Amino acid sequence: MARVNEHYLKLKSSYLFSEIARRVRDFQAAHPEARIIRLGIGDVTRPLPPAVVRALHEAVDEMARAESFRGYGPETGYDFLTSLVAEHDYGALGVSVAPDEIFVSDGAKQDSGNIQEIFAPDCVVALTDPVYPVYLDSNVMAGRAGVLDDTGRYDRVAYLPCVAENGFRPPLPDRRVDLVYLCFPNNPTGAVLERDALRAWVEWARQHEAVLLFDAAYEAYIREPGVPHSIYEIEGAREVAVEFRSFSKSAGFTGTRCAFTVVPKEVAGRGPDGARVALNPLWFRRQSTKFNGVPYIVQKGAAAVYADEGRRQVRELIDFYMDNARIIRDGLEAAGLTVHGGRNAPYIWVKTPPGLSSWDFFDLLLTEAHVVGTPGSGFGPSGEGYFRLTGFGRREDTEEAVARIKTRLPR
Ligand code: MLT
Repeated sequence: MARVNEHYLKLKSSYLFSEIARRVRDFQAAHPEARIIRLGIGDVTRPLPPAVVRALHEAVDEMARAESFRGYGPETGYDFLTSLVAEHDYGALGVSVAPDEIFVSDGAKQDSGNIQEIFAPDCVVALTDPVYPVYLDSNVMAGRAGVLDDTGRYDRVAYLPCVAENGFRPPLPDRRVDLVYLCFPNNPTGAVLERDALRAWVEWARQHEAVLLFDAAYEAYIREPGVPHSIYEIEGAREVAVEFRSFSKSAGFTGTRCAFTVVPKEVAGRGPDGARVALNPLWFRRQSTKFNGVPYIVQKGAAAVYADEGRRQVRELIDFYMDNARIIRDGLEAAGLTVHGGRNAPYIWVKTPPGLSSWDFFDLLLTEAHVVGTPGSGFGPSGEGYFRLTGFGRREDTEEAVARIKTRLPR
C-alpha cells in the first residue's frame, strides 16, 4: 500500500474555515428556523463591477468565434494584463516592476501556499502570530514545521507575536530564519505596517539574506496616506521580497479567480553549492509545469478594472465594505467591546468579553445571536481572546448582526 505524506498527519485536524463551516452546518441542521448571518470567512457579497461583467461577456463572444478563439494562453498571463498591472499597480506608485516579473494566477491563496515549493525543505520559516492559516499549513505539509507542541506551536517555526502591546506589528526574528511571511494590511488583525516598520523588515532581510513573502491582497483597503501599498515602495525590497496581490477582495473575484505574484529578477536564494539562484526563473519553472494559466475570459475581466469606469466601480465596492467595517467597529465599541482593525482593512479584530475564549465567543454568538465570525485562536496562539468579523457582508446583515451581538453580550 502506498505510504502517505506523513507531514499531512501533523496538520491540525481541519482547515480553519472548513471547521467553522462544519459547526455552522451542524447548528443549522439542528435549528432550521435560525437565520444565520455569516461574517466569518472573508468572502465578498457584492456582484462583480458592471465594467468587469461587460468585459467577461465580450471575451465569451470572442471565444465563440473561430477567428478570435484562444486555447492555452501564456502560462504567466496575457501581456494585456501584465502590462496594465505593471503600469497601474506599480508604475503609479513610482515603482518599477516589469511585465515578466508578474505571474498571473488563479489566487493569492494558491500562490502563497505554493511558493514554499521553490525553497529547501530545511528552510526555517517565520510567521506572524496570528496568521492566515495557509502559510503555516502549506509548510507543515512540506515537512518544514516540525512537531506540534502542547501550546499549539510547531517547534521548527518562528512565531512573531502580533498583540495589542506591539500594535499588532511583528517583532523582527531573534533567531536565524530564511523565509518570513508578512501580510499587510493584515488578515486577521486589520493592522498595517507603516513605511518605517516596513523599511526595518527590508533592511533586516537584506542583512540576514532572508526572503520576505509579502501578501498585499488587501492593499486596496488602505485609507491612511503614507502607508505603503507595495513592499517595493521600500528601497532594496526588490532584492529580498516576493509580493502577492489579488483581484478577489478588490474587484469581487473570490469566485471568479484572478491574482498575481511579483517575483523581481533580483530576489534570490542559494543553491547547494552556496551560489545565488534567482527565484524568478524557479517560479516560472514551477508555474509552467504545474499550472496552465488563468482563462482568457477571466483575465479580460480583470483587465477591465484598470479603465476609468472599472476603477471607479472598484472604489465604490471598497467604500461599501469599509462602511460595513465602520458600522461593526462603531457598533461594537459603543457596546463596550475593544475593537481593532477596520480602518485600513476589511477585518475587525475584537477582544472577547472577559472570561470568554475565542471559541466560547464563537459558540455564544452562533447559538444566541446566530452570527458567525472567526475565532482568533484559529489563526494562532496569539489570537486567543480575539474574534474576527468581516466587513464583506450585505449591509442589512451587517447592521442586524451588530444589533444582535449587542443584545447578547454578557452583562
Ligand atoms: C479569510 O477569511 O481569511 C479569507 O477569505 C480566506 C482567503 O482569502 O482565502
